[in-house]
Amino acid sequence: MAPDALEPAADEDLAEVAFQHVADDGAAGRRWWDANAAEYLDEHGEFLGPADFVWCPEDLREADARLLGDVAGARVLEVGAGAAQCSRWLALQGADVVATDISEAMLAAGRRYDEAAGVSVPTVVADARRLPFPDATFDVVFTAFGAIPFVPDAGAVHAEAARVLRPGGRWVCAVTHPLRWAFPDDPEGLTAIRSYFDRRPYVELGTSGTVLYAEYHRTLGDHVADLVGAGLVLDRVVEPEWPAGHDRTWGGWGPVRGALLPGTAIFVSHRP
Ligand SMILES: C[S@@+](CC[C@H](N)C(=O)[O-])C[C@H]1O[C@@H](n2cnc3c(N)ncnc32)[C@H](O)[C@@H]1O
Repeated sequence: MAPDALEPAADEDLAEVAFQHVADDGAAGRRWWDANAAEYLDEHGEFLGPADFVWCPEDLREADARLLGDVAGARVLEVGAGAAQCSRWLALQGADVVATDISEAMLAAGRRYDEAAGVSVPTVVADARRLPFPDATFDVVFTAFGAIPFVPDAGAVHAEAARVLRPGGRWVCAVTHPLRWAFPDDPEGLTAIRSYFDRRPYVELGTSGTVLYAEYHRTLGDHVADLVGAGLVLDRVVEPEWPAGHDRTWGGWGPVRGALLPGTAIFVSHRP
């Protein structure tokens, strides 16, 4: 899921936070996740579990939602897998799963969960926009907040998912709900502070102007256009509701705003 403020990634100090277009091809994402893997998992690892499949801060679990369908015996690919908690859970359900991520440090950090979970999965370092797998290899491809928010060209992620899926195969991706862009990071903030239609990315710049971190916003219509543009058929958009009694905040997600507005959008699609 999306990080909240952690330490800057490069060897330089954070100088500026801005909403502006920058020269970043997604490389800032790899550097940032490599540098912050340990802190991210220290903060969120307990919630995500060693071998659990949590789709989003609303605590929607694949065990209940079944957005991937029947995975027993299925060939499944996770992109932007982070520490591969979801993949480990799927392996326990009988899936033949591979976890990929652009950050070697995130995948490596996840290996510390293997023993606790009693299961390990194959991992491959790969950019979700250039997957090292032949066409039509998988029955299911998915990501829970991986890759898409961190690249300027999300259409390339959808196109690669479509390419490596067999015809009829399913692509499911969870992202920050586009509506959240308009609201502050404070999970109790209920006043829109920026335009939902402002596509300038959120960027953190170092003292030399290096992009330390970048997160890209797309409207709901942009996400649908990217998916359909990749030749996929959109089946459902799931907007998980904040469950009663769930009081764990995660960055801008929490029960106060969650009672009124969605925080996560999950797109369920398939290759025709
Ligand atoms: C918020 S985590 C999602 C992983 C896991 N579901 C979680 O909630 O921790 C985002 C992941 O996307 C990965 N990522 C960023 N850009 C990527 C890219 N271009 N290709 C593949 N993975 C990428 C990061 O390295 C990070 O592990």
